[in-house]
Formats: sequence, C-alpha cells, structure tokens
Amino acid sequence: MNDSEDWKDWGSATLGVRAAELRGAEREHSPAIHLTSSFIFENAAQAAAVFAGTEAGNVYSRFTNPTVRAFEQRLAAMEGGDSCVGTASGMSAILATFMTLLRAGDHIVASQTLFGTTINLCNNIFARFGVETTFVAPEDVQAWRNAVRPNTKLFFVETPNNPLTDIADIRALAEVAHAANALLIVDNCFLTPVLQQPLKLGADLVIHSATKYLDGQGRCMGGAVVGDSTRVGKDVFGFMRTAGPSMSPFNAWVFLKGLETLSLRMRAHCEAAHKLALWLREQPAIEHVYYPGLPDHPQHALAQAQHLRLGDGPDAPTAYGGIVSFEVKGGREAAWRVIDATRMLSITANLGDTRTTITHPATTTHGRVPAEARARAGIKESLIRVSVGLENIEDICADLVRGMRA
Ligand SMILES: Cc1ncc(COP(=O)(O)O)c(C=O)c1O
Repeated sequence: MNDSEDWKDWGSATLGVRAAELRGAEREHSPAIHLTSSFIFENAAQAAAVFAGTEAGNVYSRFTNPTVRAFEQRLAAMEGGDSCVGTASGMSAILATFMTLLRAGDHIVASQTLFGTTINLCNNIFARFGVETTFVAPEDVQAWRNAVRPNTKLFFVETPNNPLTDIADIRALAEVAHAANALLIVDNCFLTPVLQQPLKLGADLVIHSATKYLDGQGRCMGGAVVGDSTRVGKDVFGFMRTAGPSMSPFNAWVFLKGLETLSLRMRAHCEAAHKLALWLREQPAIEHVYYPGLPDHPQHALAQAQHLRLGDGPDAPTAYGGIVSFEVKGGREAAWRVIDATRMLSITANLGDTRTTITHPATTTHGRVPAEARARAGIKESLIRVSVGLENIEDICADLVRGMRA
C-alpha cells in the first residue's frame, strides 16, 4: 500500500483515486467495507493496551474503523491537512467542531449567508449554551474585523456560499481571525478540495458535507472535519470518541469511491454550470443570475485568484463551481411556476448530485431562517437554486424554459 511519502507530490485526481488505498489479506483491488462495530483482541492485556492507546489497533467503530480511516486519510491528503475525522453528516461535522473548540461565553463571527441549518445551529442551539454569533456579509472583510470581540474564538464561512455564490477572501479572513487569536473555519462543500484548498490559503479547519459532491450521487449522509493533528486528530477525534456522531463504514466506502471520480465530475459540473449561467442571462423571464464565473459577479476577480483550475496547465480555465442561482421576474409565484414546470430536474434540497436538482431556498433550505435574517442575506422569494448535474446541458435548459414561457 502507498503511504503519505508517495502522496506528497501527487495531484488532486491521483490523490482521489490512490491515496490511502485500503488493502486486506485477501489482496482485493477495490477497498473492503469493514462493516463491524467492534474489533477483537488476542487477550485481555492487548485489549487494555489498545484501549489505553499504548498499542495501535482498532477498538470500536464509533471512533476507529479501517474503511472510515481510509476515507479520512484520502480527504486529508486532498485538502492538504494532517488529520481528518469523518462524521455522520455535514451538520455533525460542524457540531463536533464547535463542541470541541467552544466554551460557554465564547463568541463566533459567521457569514450571514450560510446554509440555513448552520445559522439555526448557532442561533437556536449554541446560543442556549451561552455562545453568541455575530453574522456579517462574507465579502466585507472590514465587517469581520469590526465584529471581533475579546471572546471571539471562531470565524465560520462558506465560499462560495449557499445559495447566492458570494465569495469570501479566505486569505484576508485568516489574517483577521489570527490577529484576533481566533480560528478560521471554511465549509468547502461547494468547491471540494479539487477546486479550492482553504488550508493552503490560511484557514485552520475545513468542513465538508460529504453528502454533496464527495458522494456525488445523492446516496449517503456524511461529513468531515480536516485540519491539524492536534485540533482534529486529537481534540475533534476525542469528542467523537465520547459523543459519537460517527460516520458509518458503509457510507465511508461510498465516499471513498466518490473521491475516485471527484476531479472528473467537478470539471463536468463546472463546465455545465457556466454554460447554464450564460444561457439564463439571456432569458427574458430572468431578473438576475448569481454565478461567480460571470464577469459582473461582484467577486469574479477574487474567485479567479482563489479557486483552482479545471485541469492542468496555465491555460486551464478557472473553476467557479456547479451551483447557479437566479431570480425570476414575478416573485414566489413565478419561481414556483418554473420549478413545477420541470419534468426532468429533481425538485429536492440536495446538491452535488449527477442529477440536476432545483430548489426554492426561501421556503426549503432557508425556510426556518427568520424572514429578517433571510432578507439580510439577500435570499428573495423569486430565487431559485440549481445544482447542475451531468445530463446534457441542452436538456437542462429545455426543462427550465418551459416554466419561464408560462
Ligand atoms: C454548505 C453546506 N454545509 C453543510 C451542510 C449540511 O450537510 P448535511 O446535510 O450533510 O448535514 C449543507 C447541506 O445542504 C450545505 O449545503
């Protein structure tokens, strides 16, 4: 089996296919699924040593499982982190990170345009335990600086964000966070390590909803935290061992297989999304298109500088992601009409699937966010989010145009 010495010079595509290959005594080529809750010991003394950590070995799949570990090592290699901990969902990755790093009385500065459930986690759950959050515009670095308090411990941002594709400057936010002795956490769900590597830009921790592009086919729930060997390898791992929102070995196997095709899929998603954004802009029923690849996107230049390229070589185009959002003329009624007129697209809240999905954020993913916070985040009733899949782009456009004509 290859090891991290081999990996250090590999590109993203190779890492996704080959890093942390899991090989067992049967010499299987595709990784095995270690579907077991516990592991056995030669004798009581060995059990005691492995439990105490003085001898290496698996104990119990709440915190040690070979298939989950292979996924963790592969994702850590792709993100350029020392350690990764797999979790039961993207939300449990955020929960585990906050529970590990925060105490009552601490303060978070977070983007006001996060995924709705992340906003609710801060406002409805952590607030109950004495942790306050200040929400700011992701692209306004001065607003992050102004929001810092003596008790600020974390900055939390998604970039591009869900659903408006605003881009935050990771390098600048890392500087502001570090000057305040706080950590910068980046939810890298929308771009994945193939298209953006926040740790290399100064972020301290990366969060993933593996449910999205890492799986890539809408099958399994999962999440991950990536970072250094102390905060993640020891502290978040320790929280998981005790609290247990763990990733199932079966799901880890699905994600491992997903990582093998991630580079190829992300390229196809980005190319199709870019075409869709350009096409939408030409449609008379459309009020506004949100896509970082459009030259009039307010952070287009930042996206060009921060995102990785689609493929090798200096001429390879910049990646802008597979999510396009747009406002239709006529408010909620018109937006629902476009959604309801589709016959091929999937009306569902998930994203990052081979199948194109269509969502009305104001009443679904962000429906439980208070109306005022939603308005501040710029999520209007006329907004539709499309996660562009791998179907032919002409078929996606034909499905969308039906409701626009109506
Ligand atoms: C950006 C982002 N982060 C986190 C999550 C939460 O992930 P999960 O649904 O796997 O808990 C989502 C889910 O949609 C998301 O879009």
